[in-house]
Amino acid sequence: MKIISVCLCAGLALLLPLGAQHDASKEGKKKNPAMGNPEAIAAGMKLYQGSCAACHGTTGQGGRGPNLRQRGAWHPLDDDALYRTIQKGVPSSDMPALNLPEAQLWQLAAFVRSLTAPAAEAQLSGDARAGEELFWGKGNCSNCHRLLGRGGMLGPDLSNIGATKPAEDIRESIVDPDADGFLRYKGVTAVLKSGQTIKGVARNRTNYSIQVQDAQGTLHLLSMTNVKQLTFSDHSPMPRDFATRFSKRELDNLLAFLAKQSVRPYEREDKEEKK
Ligand code: HEC
Ligand code: HEC
Repeated sequence: MKIISVCLCAGLALLLPLGAQHDASKEGKKKNPAMGNPEAIAAGMKLYQGSCAACHGTTGQGGRGPNLRQRGAWHPLDDDALYRTIQKGVPSSDMPALNLPEAQLWQLAAFVRSLTAPAAEAQLSGDARAGEELFWGKGNCSNCHRLLGRGGMLGPDLSNIGATKPAEDIRESIVDPDADGFLRYKGVTAVLKSGQTIKGVARNRTNYSIQVQDAQGTLHLLSMTNVKQLTFSDHSPMPRDFATRFSKRELDNLLAFLAKQSVRPYEREDKEEKK
C-alpha cells in the first residue's frame, strides 16, 4: 500500500506543496490492514459486484456512477475518505449509503483502491513467461511495440506500462483498442501523386505537410502538394480481434507479462523521489 500512496503522490505532486505531501505520507493516519491485502481485495470484489457494479461497471469502467479506474474521474481520496464515501454515500447524488459492518466496508475500500493501482502491484493469475512468448511470437505485438529498445515503433513504447497503468486498463487496451481514444495514434493512409502509398500513424500535421510514421518506424515528411489523397482511420491502428484470436488464458498470460514491464525497480521509487 505504501506503493500506491507514492504513485498517487506523484500524480498530486504538481498540485500539493511539498510539505503537505510529506506530511501525508509520514504522519498519515494509521492504515487499515485491509488496504492492499489480496484477500481483502478479493472479498471486496465480491461485495462490489453485488452492491456497486450496477452503477460503476463490473470492472469499474463507470456507467451511472463515475469510472473508478481513472484517477482523474474521482479525485483520489485518501483511505479514510474513501471508507467514509462508501459508508455514507455522496449526499444529493445517486451514490447511496451502505449499511455494512466496518470490516466489509474496508474490503470494499481496498478493492476500489486496487482498481487504480498499477498492474505491477496486482496479483495476476497469468503465466508471464508464456505471455512473453506470445508478445514476441504469434501475438506480433513486437511488430508495433517496443520494450527497452527492442521492437516496432508504430504503437507506444510499453517498457513502463506495468508501472503506469492498472491491469484492467491494459486488458482493455488489448481487447478493445478503440476504448481509450487513441488520439495520439491516428491511423492514416497517404496516396502520393507519384503513385506511392504510405501507411502508418499521423504524427504532425499542418496545412502544408504531414508526418507519417510507418510500421518500421520511419518518419515520412510529406508535403501536401505531393499528396493526392489522405485517409484517416476512425480506429486505432491496433488490431481489434485479439479478444477472439486469443483464449482467456492467453490474454491473462499477456497481461501478467506486461504487468512486469517497469523501467525502474518498482518499490524504490519512494526513496528516490523524496531526495
Ligand atoms: C445507484 C448508483 C450507485 C451505486 C449503487 C454506487 N454508486 Fe458510487 N457513485 C455513484 C455516483 C452517481 C457517484 C458520483 C457522486 C457525485 O460526486 O456526484 C458515485 C461516486 C463514487 C465514488 C467517488 C466519490 C468521490 O468523492 O469522488 C466512489 C469511490 C464510489 N462511488 C464507490 C462506490 C462503491 C464502492 C459502491 C458500492 C458499495 C458504490 N459506489 C455504489 C453512484 C453509485
Ligand atoms: C499494427 C500495430 C499494433 C499491433 C500489432 C499491436 N498494437 Fe498495441 N497499440 C498500437 C497502437 C497504434 C496503440 C496506440 C493506440 C491505442 O491505444 O489503441 C496501441 C496501444 C496498446 C496499448 C496501450 C498502451 C498505452 O500506453 O496505453 C497496449 C497495452 C497494447 N497496445 C498492447 C498490445 C499487445 C499486447 C499486442 C499484441 C497482442 C499489441 N498491442 C499489438 C499498435 C499495435
